[in-house]
Amino acid sequence: MNINQLREEYLKFFEARGHRRIPSAPLLPENDPTVLFTTAGMHPLVPFLLGESHPLGKRLVDFQKCIRTNDIDEVGDASHLTFFEMMGNWSLGDYFKEESLAWSYEFLTRTLGIQPSSLSVTVFAGDADAPRDDEAAGIWKRLGIPVDRIHYLPKKDNWWGPAGQTGPCGPDSEIFYDTGRPDHPGCGPGCSCGKWFEIWNNVFMEYDKKADGNFTRLKQQNVDTGLGLERTHAVLQGLDDIFKIETLWSLVQKIEELSGRSYAENPSPFRVIADHLRAASFAIADGARPSNVESGYVVRRMIRRSVRFGRELGIHDNFLGALSCTVVEMMQATYPELERQREVIAGALDAEETKFKHTLERGLRQVNKVFDHLKENHINLVSGEDAFDLFETYGFPLELTQELARENGLPVDEEGFQRCYAEHRESSRQNLDQKFKGGLADHAEKTTSLHTATHLLHKALRTVLGTHVQQKGSNITPERLRFDFSHPERVTPEQLAEVECIVNDQIAADLPVNMEIQTLQQAMESGALAFFSEKYGEQVKVYSIGDFSKEVCGGPHVTRTGAMGHFRITKEEAVGQGIRRIRAVLE
Ligand code: ALA
Repeated sequence: MNINQLREEYLKFFEARGHRRIPSAPLLPENDPTVLFTTAGMHPLVPFLLGESHPLGKRLVDFQKCIRTNDIDEVGDASHLTFFEMMGNWSLGDYFKEESLAWSYEFLTRTLGIQPSSLSVTVFAGDADAPRDDEAAGIWKRLGIPVDRIHYLPKKDNWWGPAGQTGPCGPDSEIFYDTGRPDHPGCGPGCSCGKWFEIWNNVFMEYDKKADGNFTRLKQQNVDTGLGLERTHAVLQGLDDIFKIETLWSLVQKIEELSGRSYAENPSPFRVIADHLRAASFAIADGARPSNVESGYVVRRMIRRSVRFGRELGIHDNFLGALSCTVVEMMQATYPELERQREVIAGALDAEETKFKHTLERGLRQVNKVFDHLKENHINLVSGEDAFDLFETYGFPLELTQELARENGLPVDEEGFQRCYAEHRESSRQNLDQKFKGGLADHAEKTTSLHTATHLLHKALRTVLGTHVQQKGSNITPERLRFDFSHPERVTPEQLAEVECIVNDQIAADLPVNMEIQTLQQAMESGALAFFSEKYGEQVKVYSIGDFSKEVCGGPHVTRTGAMGHFRITKEEAVGQGIRRIRAVLE
């Protein structure tokens, strides 16, 4: 079974059990300021886990492209990836533990033919917030998992979510594949020695974590599952190295060709380049660009790490743009956006690679300055701070600094470097946590109003400027909305004033907002605006704001416009050929 067949088998299995397919959401969440990337299949489904009804019903299935960067520094071993595909199935207040676990077991052992004796499972051990999950353990026993392969683990292992600081979460049950490697005292599922491969997580999302840290019951019992596509494929192929699966291996082979080096001798640089290049290509295809902030910074970091590891393999010419063609070729059948953005991806990678090379050269000059200074002052040690500065400012890994220092007969204070590194890492973690602050549900009220304001703005622009105006993108934070649309020229101050006035009139009229579920075709026929049709399933939600606006959209929206506040445009600018951008606030 190849990886595409595995993806399809999974979808078919759950479709046969009443689930409807939903498309993979973009990697950069559109209306969610609290996260940098989509990190799990449940992300786009938070409103529905909280109780909003989904247009396709209560049983959903999908595959979702995800980027997780918390372990970026671990990439280089046989199992860590930043970009991966998560297969998921959901019950939105429908079936619960019994069906969920039975289907997971059936899919793994019957459909995929994995030996039941290679599986071990974990369930939640219980604490003050939620009881021990004897129910899940009982289900596993009835399915035939022996008691000694059912492990009770605490919250840090067996509780999933919320994705931010608040929101849906619950105890989970994880399924591990035993690779058959020897164990050691204290080893069991969850141990990181490489014996256990976590392949599937079934989360029983019946809790809502509140901002005060307490857990309350959600109004419905949900199931949220995630099956790692790459890992499961590796298990089926009997591989103990995830980079040997076809989609990544073809990249490894290309890098072998380019460098003339062999993966078998020193696999780490190959792994970093293959993983990071794939993640960066997908992120760029979804609109990210290398920069110094947020998702752009992550993309920049991945590209720079790839360049560095490329140099380690002796590759000095720009290579990432050309190599991205292999990513596109391997994955475009499933993700057609890669093919559409092929040139943009290659161009952005190439430009960043060139830029980074200049930085590297400056870094080399800085290294020489540091060495000269030390020699002049008869200091015989490169300090941890200096080594860390080279790492942080010029992207020099410790090993490179050590190598250059050695050539000059200087040791490097490695411990000092590690200390600076750990401190820095801690503060970036805190920044990232800050980013998650409030979770997905917290800013809901403000972002919901701004979301509704976006529809009003869209319609007002079409009224004032003409119906050639089409939405090209939107981004909402709790503070403001940003709306990109097609229009060939600058919008004059008079036109902007008129747009504001129209929007504020609709707010003052306290119009009701109604949602109807229709097929995309019915929606289009009724005159609803829908400019992202490829992203929608067949059944869509159509939001009407009085008689003023009608748009296909996932929601959520306010129920009446009256309490939204005063709408003010703060900026109008060009963002590309024929595309304008408006920023606006509700005051
Ligand atoms: N949301 C769960 C996870 O990411 C399934 O593991």
